[in-house]
Amino acid sequence: MSFLEEIQRRRTFGIISHPDAGKTTLTEKLLLFGGAIQEAGAVKNNKVKKGATSDFMEIERQRGISVATSVLAFIYKDKKINILDTPGHKDFAEDTFRTLTAVDSVIVVIDVAKGVEEQTEKLVEVCRMRKIPIIVFINKLDREGKDAFDLLDEVEQKLGLRVTPLSFPIGMGYDFKGIYNIWDKKLNLFSPDNKQSISEGVEFDDVSNPELDEIIGETAADTLREELELALEVYPKFNKDEYQNGDLQPVFFGSALNNFGVKELLECFIEIAPPPQPKMAEERLVDSKEEKLTGFVFKIHANMDPKHRDRLAFIKIVSGIFKRNAPYLHVRNNKKMKFSSPNAFFAEKKEIVDESFPGDIVGLHDTGNFKIGDTLTEGEILNFKGIPSFSPEHFRYVNNADPMKSKQLYKGLDQLMDEGVAQLFTLELNGRKIIGTVGALQYEVIQYRLEHEYGAKCSYENLPMHKVCWVAPEDPKNDEYAEFRRVKQRYLAKDKQNRLVFLADSAFTIQMTQQKYPTVKLHFTSEF
Ligand code: G4P
Repeated sequence: MSFLEEIQRRRTFGIISHPDAGKTTLTEKLLLFGGAIQEAGAVKNNKVKKGATSDFMEIERQRGISVATSVLAFIYKDKKINILDTPGHKDFAEDTFRTLTAVDSVIVVIDVAKGVEEQTEKLVEVCRMRKIPIIVFINKLDREGKDAFDLLDEVEQKLGLRVTPLSFPIGMGYDFKGIYNIWDKKLNLFSPDNKQSISEGVEFDDVSNPELDEIIGETAADTLREELELALEVYPKFNKDEYQNGDLQPVFFGSALNNFGVKELLECFIEIAPPPQPKMAEERLVDSKEEKLTGFVFKIHANMDPKHRDRLAFIKIVSGIFKRNAPYLHVRNNKKMKFSSPNAFFAEKKEIVDESFPGDIVGLHDTGNFKIGDTLTEGEILNFKGIPSFSPEHFRYVNNADPMKSKQLYKGLDQLMDEGVAQLFTLELNGRKIIGTVGALQYEVIQYRLEHEYGAKCSYENLPMHKVCWVAPEDPKNDEYAEFRRVKQRYLAKDKQNRLVFLADSAFTIQMTQQKYPTVKLHFTSEF
């Protein structure tokens, strides 16, 4: 297969949802279609197994959440599909935001009864800002839930999307009869006993066909006809370009658990979802079809075995072919590196591969060279954009609880921050260290990992702050900036990249500060 064909056949995407909407179940059903796993339950079982063999994962298991994100790949109808799994738990939202920098599209899963939930809103907002193409999958149609039109309205209003249904449910919950697929004009009948089967669906070009009444009953058939007519009138016609530009979002209905509507989603997905997209670097736009390798680190995964401190850096390949043992430039370190055992991901396994293509994710063993956001090239100086830090929401001073182990503590903190577990700030005034996180859970994770992986102990002291803002003076030499620095001295710190941040104790403080020092701009993300 040629290089261009390899690119064109790849689809790299993420599934996002509020916890419990059915992300894991949908992922698993997609893998079943790809023949990547043989039985339902395999993805979840795998999670539990890991938990049983590693202490750190025990934290995760006990809390019943998925801390780790992983890559699951499979082939379907000759398309190479890479699913980048994202943790649903809100304390790990930043991990998910970063993963979104490596996807070319997303599928959003929504629970038919709960509708649009908080976590979905936040994640979709990030996708919208980046114009990532979105497909919506409304799940759990076998349960009683909201009316289809109401849900479509809710998705439009709460998520700010412009939707068009590509399938439509017939009944719901106890009365759920099936789905009419607007996309491929097929009728799929639901049978709750048929859980794992892969049903083909009946071709049904025209719903006015009286056969429909025989199959689903006169009342259901009439309702479906009316609803479809209304849907066609109210919603814009599907258009692939609009979808790929992030201006139109198709919606599917189904039940992941019952494997219903999933195949239809997948069939449509491989047709419409974009292949690997170009990516903006600070220097220029890099196209996936360029022959020279470029890629960036979007995630670093700590080795779960404390005896082997190496980590796995996840690289998204943007252009070119990643070759085993070829020398690549680590741009930030200005260092050539070779990788003798790059991992590629298949289903839930990883294996060493000789070549990977744009859209693929490779896992590189790392002993501390990589940070999130690092770029690899064949020599060109490029820095991919788009992995900002967001302001944390929790802040604590971190203290060394074992004076004999301060070296270990700082090394551990340094590496954990490079992995993106949390953010470290150093107060300008006295050098005290502050850890900022998105959720309270990370503090336990950090304490646990410092102790088990680095032999260091830490304690925390609460710091009641609201947010940090990255400081950008319009003129670093003007008097206003000098005064800002003097007056706010106690609240100024440096992040790990040595950028100045302002610790604000309330939204009001930010507002007042901004009013008083209008030329000193305050930003909630590190990239502005
Ligand atoms: P998540 O990854 O988004 O957090 O959700 P997950 O797939 O784990 O699904 C959450 C719960 O919803 C699971 O039940 C799952 O079986 C159920 N579920 C997923 N899809 C459907 C569906 O189409 N219909 C119905 N009725 N339920 C669905 P659980 O009891 O929490 O877990 P389990 O014991 O079934 O594994």
